[in-house]
Amino acid sequence: MDKSKTSEYVGYRLLSNFFFNIYKLISRFSNWFLRLSQKINFEEYKLKFGEREDDIYIVTYPKSGTTLMQMILYHLTTEGNMSFNHIYDVSPWIKNASFKRQEPIELPSPRIIKSHDFYKDFPKSTKGKFIYVYRDGMDVAVSHYHQQKNYNRSNLEFENFLRTFFKNKSWFKHTKDWLRNKKGFPILYVRYENLINKKEEEITRIVKFCEITPTKESIERALKYSSFSYMKKNEEKFGDQPEKSKKIFDQFIRKGKSGEGTRYFTEHQKEKFIKQYEKMVKKPETRAFEKEALINH
Ligand code: A3P
Repeated sequence: MDKSKTSEYVGYRLLSNFFFNIYKLISRFSNWFLRLSQKINFEEYKLKFGEREDDIYIVTYPKSGTTLMQMILYHLTTEGNMSFNHIYDVSPWIKNASFKRQEPIELPSPRIIKSHDFYKDFPKSTKGKFIYVYRDGMDVAVSHYHQQKNYNRSNLEFENFLRTFFKNKSWFKHTKDWLRNKKGFPILYVRYENLINKKEEEITRIVKFCEITPTKESIERALKYSSFSYMKKNEEKFGDQPEKSKKIFDQFIRKGKSGEGTRYFTEHQKEKFIKQYEKMVKKPETRAFEKEALINH
C-alpha cells in the first residue's frame, strides 16, 4: 500500500470508529431515556389504577407458574366467565400494560394482579395481599430458556442462556428478597410443584389466606380450567402476546412438569447453581422454607 493510500485508510478507520462510538453513546442514552420514561409511565398508570385493600398480587419470577395461579384465582373469585380474549383482560399484568401504553381496566374486587417485580419495587405501604409462587430455579431456567428461544432468539444455546442467568443472578435475588419479606407484607407462599401435584390442598390454603368463600362449583371450575390440558388447548388466551406477524401460540403453556432442570444442567452447572443458591437464598432468614427446599436436588 503506498503512503497516500495508508493515510486514506487510517482516515476512514478513524471516521468510522468515531461515528460508531457516537452511535453507541446515543443508543445507551436512548435506552436510559426509554427506561426512565417507562418508569414514570408506570407510576402514572398505578395512580389511575389505584389501590384497594382487597387487591391480590400474584408475584413470581417469570416462568414459575404465574398464569396457572391467575387462572385458579380468577375462578375462585368470579363466576368464571371464560369468554375473555386474554387472561390479562381479567387479571392484568399492570407493568406490561403500562409499557404498552394501555389504559387501566376497570375490574370488580378482589382484583387479581400479576407482577414479576422485585421486592424492593413494592413500597411498604402497598395495600392488599401477596401470593408468591416459586419453583425449582433450575426448572425455571429451562422454562425461561425455551420462552426466549421460541419467542425472541431461535438460535439461542442453553449454555449461553445460563451464562446470563448466572451472571445477573436475578432468580436468586428475586427469590431471596420475597422469601425474606423484610417489610412484613401478608404473603402466602405457594410452590409450583405443589400446585401441579396437590392442587386441591393448595386451593384450600389459597381460599383461607384470601378470605374468600368460593362455591363448590367455583372450586370445580378452578380445577377444570386451570388444568394443563385445558390451558394448553386454549393457549391464545394465556400465552405471550407477540406481534401478529410473529405469532407462536403453542409454546407458552409448554410442558408443565417439574424436574427438567436436572436433565438440562450438567453436573458442573448444577454445582454452580447450588453454590449460588446456598450463598444467596438458603439463609437463616429463609429457614422456614428449609423443610421444603426450594430446589429438588
Ligand atoms: P414449562 O415451560 O416448564 O412448561 P408462567 O405462567 O409464570 O410464565 O409459567 C409458565 C410455566 O408454567 C410453563 O412451564 C408452563 O407450561 C407452566 N404452566 C402453565 N399453565 C400450567 C398448568 N395449567 N399446569 C401446569 N403447568 C402450567
